[in-house]
Amino acid sequence: MTTDLRPENIDWKDLGFSYIKTDYRFISYYKDGSWDEGTLTEDNQLHISEGSTALHYGQQCFEGMKAYRTADGSIQLFRPYENAKRMKLSCERLLMPVFPEEKFVEAIKKVVKANEEWVPPYGTGSTLYIRPFIIGIGDNIGVKPADEYIFSAFVMPVGPYFKGGLKPSNFLVTDYDRAAPKGTGAAKVGGNYAGSLLPGKEAKERSFSDAVYLDPETHTKIEEVGAANFFGITKDDLFITPKSSSILPSITKYSLLWLAENRLNLKVSEGDVYIDQINQFKEAGACGTAAVIAPIGGLQIKDDFHVFYSETEVGPVTKRLYNELVGIQTGDVEAPEGWIV
Ligand code: COI
Repeated sequence: MTTDLRPENIDWKDLGFSYIKTDYRFISYYKDGSWDEGTLTEDNQLHISEGSTALHYGQQCFEGMKAYRTADGSIQLFRPYENAKRMKLSCERLLMPVFPEEKFVEAIKKVVKANEEWVPPYGTGSTLYIRPFIIGIGDNIGVKPADEYIFSAFVMPVGPYFKGGLKPSNFLVTDYDRAAPKGTGAAKVGGNYAGSLLPGKEAKERSFSDAVYLDPETHTKIEEVGAANFFGITKDDLFITPKSSSILPSITKYSLLWLAENRLNLKVSEGDVYIDQINQFKEAGACGTAAVIAPIGGLQIKDDFHVFYSETEVGPVTKRLYNELVGIQTGDVEAPEGWIV
């Protein structure tokens, strides 16, 4: 699925998570200390210097967000200012110029509107994935921040990130680390994901959906699930998700923390999830913009295979969280103030 697909030929209910070239992307250049106005373009190729810091030293960051079609046919974004804020933190970590919050949200609105016909219809389970990114460009070779940058955002219709969507799948606890204790784990930078390719491949070769990472300092606590965050529901109805300076602060995870407490009346906590206390959970899942909520059926921990709720059925609390979250995103459930644009 790549270049010649048109919206009218798409089977919206059968989309995976792959690149599709849509009509327009937004692009803005940073030079001499400021960002230009930016523009929409049909060209999906970037022409950049071979000395671009993004290519050699990983000076780049990205975001993941979605646009949703509601029942009345309109299109909405979910908490886009949170993506703008997180991108600011990523830029600060890698000494890149920040793309201002208002400009960010305006750019996202422009690129979504320009590709309106690619936003999947309501009720198909598919959404328009939005990928903003910033890269260091220009003629460089020393290890130092670039003087010039590109901010761009492109979009494509997507279905579930993990095959099966709300159907549980199994994951493998890996020995590899995703990030270092005081490294770049909390920034959404490509290097974190490049480092996850090998553990992910090894997990998939053993028929798991992806790798689960432990904290890099002690290897005793769960940190992340592939490219998504972890949450669990304990047997006494506590919603818990790991707190650590080396995990990516997922906007979905913070939304679920709020929804669990305020809509499902659960106790909630952001804290330590010790792998040797995995028995405390009756349900567990991965969450993120791409993953939405993917229930974890079982977890392979060295030679032990631990099943949470079921390997085939989604648990009731996870299902309620999913309905609440997706209901808000698609306009069926009342959203907390400021969540929908
Ligand atoms: C997202 O959830 O949007 C992500 O960024 C995960 C991704 C790397 C596919």
